[in-house]
Amino acid sequence: MTRKILLNRRQILQLGLGGLTGIGTLALGQAKCLSKQLEKLDNPNRKFTVIGQASLKQRAAAKGLFYGAAVRINPLFQDKKFRANFIQECGALVPEWDLKWTSLRPDISSFNFTYADRLAKFTQSNGMLLRGHTLVWHESLPTWFQKEVNSANVAKILQQHIKTVVGRYARQVHSWDVVNEAIDIKSGRADNLRNTPWLQLMGPDYIEFAFRTAAQADPHALLVYNEYGLDYDSRDDEAKRVAVLKLLKDLKWRGTPIHALGIQAHLNGASTLFNSQKFRSFLGNVASLGLKILITELDVLDKNLPEDTTKRDQIVAAVYEDYLSAVLQEKAVIGVLTWGLSDRYTWLAEDNSSGKLLPLPFSLRPLPLDVNGNRKLAWNAIARAFDSAPRR
Ligand code: XIL
Repeated sequence: MTRKILLNRRQILQLGLGGLTGIGTLALGQAKCLSKQLEKLDNPNRKFTVIGQASLKQRAAAKGLFYGAAVRINPLFQDKKFRANFIQECGALVPEWDLKWTSLRPDISSFNFTYADRLAKFTQSNGMLLRGHTLVWHESLPTWFQKEVNSANVAKILQQHIKTVVGRYARQVHSWDVVNEAIDIKSGRADNLRNTPWLQLMGPDYIEFAFRTAAQADPHALLVYNEYGLDYDSRDDEAKRVAVLKLLKDLKWRGTPIHALGIQAHLNGASTLFNSQKFRSFLGNVASLGLKILITELDVLDKNLPEDTTKRDQIVAAVYEDYLSAVLQEKAVIGVLTWGLSDRYTWLAEDNSSGKLLPLPFSLRPLPLDVNGNRKLAWNAIARAFDSAPRR
């Protein structure tokens, strides 16, 4: 008898089964199939040769694209080698924490811009694009939110938040993730909207309201709807692609100032469910709405891969190159960001309960640079994808 366990999204990711199961439940017996799936990805003869030493940002720029990464303030300002690597490789920066509500909003009436300002200044002095993440999300809400926000004051509070934050960085932010993760096909709603505090308090119009308010506060920023779970040829991802397309069409039809889809792309190294043709047709559909596309949070989870580092890196690199070389064929794609640059600071190594990074050594290798800041095969894979991408 197979026992079914209910898992939340973070646990699914940490178990490394998101892209494999495609659903929120995992039959214990399925884990055994993993090794079979991996055999297909693990090809020691596949080479990831790269010509020259140019950085990722240079290779992206040569094709009219940009490359960047998410970053936490402490490593950037305390780890010299990491900072030098970040400046070398990245043409764009997205604060991993510092523009979220929990960081910016100590209480209902004040804002703390200390860290976000430091990061904004850093991007200016280093000629990098700054991405804003994120204005409306069901996670990262401060504890006061539930106690103090209600249907009578929610619109005013959201409007004030967006005006203040977007206004402060107007003309500095390249693109804002205005709304993050609003679709949940398991919500049981006809419109597939996630049952979030925003939806409960404001109804479905909160999305359009957020985009309109952001456009007023900074008419120059690219306004993005950002989503996860879109990448694989699974029933759930397909349903999500359909729901997201419907949402985007609807927003465009109503004249909402939305300019791009952000695809998080938290990939699973153990999944063989990526279907480049299907995915490209989805990207084509998004592009035909007149929207740009950004890959916003790319990483490749390598849990459940062989322990041997050479094999592990080989598989992760194959996943990066297969994904990016398909995606970059679509000319509406304007940039790629990984969710972190070095394995040392990956969110995938956060302890589930405390949110703190696990102490070194840990074996996760999901990002372009290793824990010591050296380029890995994953770096080569991304470089190769940029090198072979058509010019914009
Ligand atoms: C994550 C951060 O990386 C973690 O450090 C934090 O504990 C939780 O949030 N999708 C998103 C990001 O849009 O904001 C999330 O970032 C990762 C998943």
